[in-house]
Amino acid sequence: MRGSGASFLSVGDLTAAELGAVLDLAEAPATARPLEGKGVALVFEHPSARTRNAAEMAVVQLGGHPLAIRGEEIGIDRRESAEDVARTLACYHSIIAARVERHTTLERMRHSLEASGTPVPVVNLLSDVEHPTQALADLLTIRQRLGRLEGVTLAFVGDGNNVCRSLAGAAALAGMHFRAAAPAGYELKSEDVAWALRLGGEIELSSSPREAAEGADVIYTDVWVSMGEDEESWTKRHAFAGYTIDDELLAAAAPGALVLHCLPAHRGEEISEAVLDGPQSAVWLQAENRMHSIRGLFRFMSGEGVAPRGQAL
Ligand code: CP
Ligand code: NVA
Repeated sequence: MRGSGASFLSVGDLTAAELGAVLDLAEAPATARPLEGKGVALVFEHPSARTRNAAEMAVVQLGGHPLAIRGEEIGIDRRESAEDVARTLACYHSIIAARVERHTTLERMRHSLEASGTPVPVVNLLSDVEHPTQALADLLTIRQRLGRLEGVTLAFVGDGNNVCRSLAGAAALAGMHFRAAAPAGYELKSEDVAWALRLGGEIELSSSPREAAEGADVIYTDVWVSMGEDEESWTKRHAFAGYTIDDELLAAAAPGALVLHCLPAHRGEEISEAVLDGPQSAVWLQAENRMHSIRGLFRFMSGEGVAPRGQAL
């Protein structure tokens, strides 16, 4: 993010030190109420259980007023342009966070605010490209359960989607080894791999879930059909047959490997019921950590844990 007050559309907007600061702030007792008297707009063009509740409660814990707004109420690019929606919300709120159908909507909102000199940051609460606040919770959970991030091997088995992309970037910043297994046509794109490598990452792509899972410390999956992909549902469910995280695949990972899933889960598709509800699963801690990590992010954006300009944290 290169400093507090900047927008957070991608995990790549954070430096490695900033990511560490956000995770630390997620766990540090809140000593101040930096959002006292301030509004935070939470726009949802897609449904949400975790992100909306986590973000609303994080804002409340920091003394602010969260205002959740459904996509159809605000009508981005239908009732008025994304640019004008951003300028309008910035009249009342100190942060604009949005879950959008198209990532470009977030970029246009950010650009409209920056170009007009409006000091209100935009936060990505999921787009078709990234889910960066999810990756914050994922890393926080891994750090809590394994005691470290650097050197941890994470295997993502499933679609090379928004969650996978953000996780690859966050893992790169944290010095983790990232592996991803997906069927042909659904892998991370070469530009995503190049991006993660630029962030300092180490990435192995494969079409074999077994190869990816072998000896991994963390095994992660997400739905095969993301929001907005209903028309591809049949094709994707067939393409991903054999990519289920089940007891057999989990046995290939390191003993006691952590199982993560961003949720919502489809038991019996991308993950078996036994694994999701089994002793190695940390999905409910991960869900709770959505709130703590978003709180850490908002604290960071409000200026906490920020080193003086030019100094590393
Ligand atoms: N993991 C996640 O983003 O969940 P929701 O879609 O329920 O917000
Ligand atoms: N990849 C999923 C994540 C849901 C939290 C989606 O975009 O629907």
